[in-house]
Amino acid sequence: MIYFDNAATTLHKPDCVMQAVVQAMTAFGGVGRGVHGASLAAGMAVFEAREALCQLLGAAGPDRVSFTSNVTESLNIALQGLLGPGDHVITTAASHNSVLRPLYLLEQRGVELTIVPVGPNGALDWEAYAQAFRSNTKLVAATHASNLTGDVYDVQRMAALAHEHGALVVVDAAQTAGVVPINMAEQRLDVVCFTGHKALYGPQGTGGLAVVPHVEIPPLKVGGSGTHSFDHEHPCAMPESLEAGTLNGHGISGLGAGVNFILETGVDVIAAHEQRLVEAFEAGVQGIPGVRVLGGGGCGRTGIVALNVGDEDAGRISDALNVEYGICTRAGAHCAPLMHEALGTATQGAVRFSFSYFNTEEEVRQAVQALQDIARCAGAPRPHKRKERT
Ligand code: ALA
Repeated sequence: MIYFDNAATTLHKPDCVMQAVVQAMTAFGGVGRGVHGASLAAGMAVFEAREALCQLLGAAGPDRVSFTSNVTESLNIALQGLLGPGDHVITTAASHNSVLRPLYLLEQRGVELTIVPVGPNGALDWEAYAQAFRSNTKLVAATHASNLTGDVYDVQRMAALAHEHGALVVVDAAQTAGVVPINMAEQRLDVVCFTGHKALYGPQGTGGLAVVPHVEIPPLKVGGSGTHSFDHEHPCAMPESLEAGTLNGHGISGLGAGVNFILETGVDVIAAHEQRLVEAFEAGVQGIPGVRVLGGGGCGRTGIVALNVGDEDAGRISDALNVEYGICTRAGAHCAPLMHEALGTATQGAVRFSFSYFNTEEEVRQAVQALQDIARCAGAPRPHKRKERT
């Protein structure tokens, strides 16, 4: 099996991640819920994971990193916590539904929303962005990279303009944390939302957000915190303020190991490997009749190539890749409806190949070969050829 669905969840994890989770499963009690060794061991692993993420993201300190169950929860905390009736928020058409749906919900509660368009190659309309600001603009919800095309957007430039207008910047780094350099201090990003199970090589059910010291986000959920039990109010200081209930210490331990693997390997080394795969794949598919690679309008690219073959439904191509060649991709709308509308693929969808540090050029070569075969027969009924699974 060749796994090219890493933008959804990385399948191959570094060994240290598995070891950390197993170790945690055998040794951890509740994080921050006791003073015995099992609880302290969990607390220490969680603290070390905060430290590793702080280093990876250029956050102000480990206490400014709170853990959540995924980036969707992080974005809901940030957007619902920071925006209220009468506020204006700006996002872009590159956004995933994890940004769009919380904003549509907030719109119903009296928040004003502007969505800056992207062009047919995914390029952000910077003029429209500059003109979108109003006197009540509270926040920009910036997607760092499209989960559909892999196009990276210049969040530093977006932040500079936002700050000129007194607005905060919340970054959806779901597709970039671990594979595109992020430095909150240098890029002047106020909140960075991340997820553990993609390029951070952690388990599913892990994620979080890093917040600059001058921004306090009220909690979305409240409850047990392990401290101040007689207070009616949940603690208001990060990281506990955004972490009601027992943390996923087992998962966070694996996430910490994944982030440490990235820090030791180097984001630049990982990115360079994925770029080599992207370039080899693009070069390979370029000459295939009917193949249209989507996007390309960003200031860089993550390890994603999304494409279509003629007018074929993307699901049919993705299914053929899986069933006949054992190649896992993602098809359909990718929870990015506005991006599809901009690219003209709302009906057809797109086949997304997403690479990780653990993929090889040989796997890319096989995928190109498979696409050549499929494109040759595009429009014809698919043969019932089933590849033996390995
Ligand atoms: N947002 C994830 C993806 O792009 C699930 O596949």
